[in-house]
Amino acid sequence: MAEAILRFEDKEVELPVVEGSETERGLDISRLAAETGLFTIDRGFGNTAESQSSVSFIDGEKGILRYRGYPIEQLAEGASFLEVAYLLLNGVLPSQPLLTEFEDAITRHTLLREDMKKLFEAFPHNAHPMQILASATSALATYYPDALDPADPEAVEVSVRRLLAKVPTMIAWLYKYKVHQPYVYPRNDLDYAANFLHMVFSVPAEPYHHDPVVAAALNVLLILHSDHGQNCSATAVRLVGSGDANIFSSVSAGIHALSGPLHGGANQEVLEMLEEMAEEGGDVSKFVARAKDKENPFRLMGFGHRIYKNFDPRAKIIKQAAADVLAKLHIDDPLLEIAQELEQVALSDDYFIERKLYPNVDFYSGIIYRALGFPTDTFTVLFALGRLPGWLAQWKELHADPKMKIYRPQQVYVGETKRDYVPISQR
Ligand code: CMC
Repeated sequence: MAEAILRFEDKEVELPVVEGSETERGLDISRLAAETGLFTIDRGFGNTAESQSSVSFIDGEKGILRYRGYPIEQLAEGASFLEVAYLLLNGVLPSQPLLTEFEDAITRHTLLREDMKKLFEAFPHNAHPMQILASATSALATYYPDALDPADPEAVEVSVRRLLAKVPTMIAWLYKYKVHQPYVYPRNDLDYAANFLHMVFSVPAEPYHHDPVVAAALNVLLILHSDHGQNCSATAVRLVGSGDANIFSSVSAGIHALSGPLHGGANQEVLEMLEEMAEEGGDVSKFVARAKDKENPFRLMGFGHRIYKNFDPRAKIIKQAAADVLAKLHIDDPLLEIAQELEQVALSDDYFIERKLYPNVDFYSGIIYRALGFPTDTFTVLFALGRLPGWLAQWKELHADPKMKIYRPQQVYVGETKRDYVPISQR
């Protein structure tokens, strides 16, 4: 086994190199503190892996993303979202009988307890969907107290299926509440994407027939968001899970983490930015100039990524899908043209070239969601729905690891040194 040697003052420690199944190599520093009294500082964890993972592989230089070894391009082309969820959760593609059993089990869990309606109704109508979804996901744990033990595989399995089944219903219902429409119950004869569209868009006054183009586009988007290594929200799920919190609390933490505009919340921000550009006449160059100005906190939303220093492979597929979906639905959205123009201007600008800033997954996804009929503030809950199998797979992987430890980073204390308390009368 390869090793690196670290010398500090009169101490020397050999640090083993851990090799991944692809190209990655990591230095195992777990003995560092015990043997040298030193620990490492790594802002934003750019150099640090907490764990070994086999859920998804990313090569940021080459722009590659694979789930359990399968290229996302192939999965987006041929698989259903639940097939991908099964793959992420179990590590293998299901046979037809196994997939049918998995789909049936999820279909049978799609109803919510009726009392949950009161939960949605406790929020203001203009509450952001991510806040409601995180709260409702956390609340789910209170309805199933018998299946919360992280060490009980059967309880975990039923909770995983409940989450996959109920999150679409929760998103649809929080949406219905927000738009003052009656809740629509799930239909077990429809597949996952079609049932979700039915719960979101149908109204009791007339029959609703989902458009297969829309369902297919949603299926692809959900697949492309399904997992992405140790991203901010997956790390939040693992962190909360590492304290043995139940899976609902852990996923709720992931939803909160995803809501931030630097993470999943960027898909909403991108669309709002494109709308602003359209309102200002479609001239993208002044937004590019603002993004380059170090005095200005503005960033081009949907651009840049910690890992990708090349095209985000998801963005490539979504860009093409956006053009295809708009054409199939006969929608002429000026925002698509503005996005294409912005991409072109940014990619030929030295600032973006030098920093290797490319469009990421959030850049074109909102244009499709908008074409499918989703309001802008629901975009990030759609990301959450897609990411759910990844969070669940990451949580399961954490708990299956015999070396699992509670996440508890070190700190370099830079506060006051010891000083004595002074009674208030003497201050
Ligand atoms: N617009 C302008 N400049 C940027 C941008 C951007 N979108 N992204 C990065 N930079 C600059 C940044 O100012 C820095 O410049 P300098 O070296 O001169 O200080 C350099 O590029 C490196 O950026 P960083 O902030 O150190 O990179 P990071 O890896 O810490 O951050 C990021 C990654 C995604 C948070 C960041 O690129 C960003 O804020 N992008 C916009 C928000 C966004 O689209 N988020 C979605 C990410 S993909 C999906 C997901 O994770 O959910």
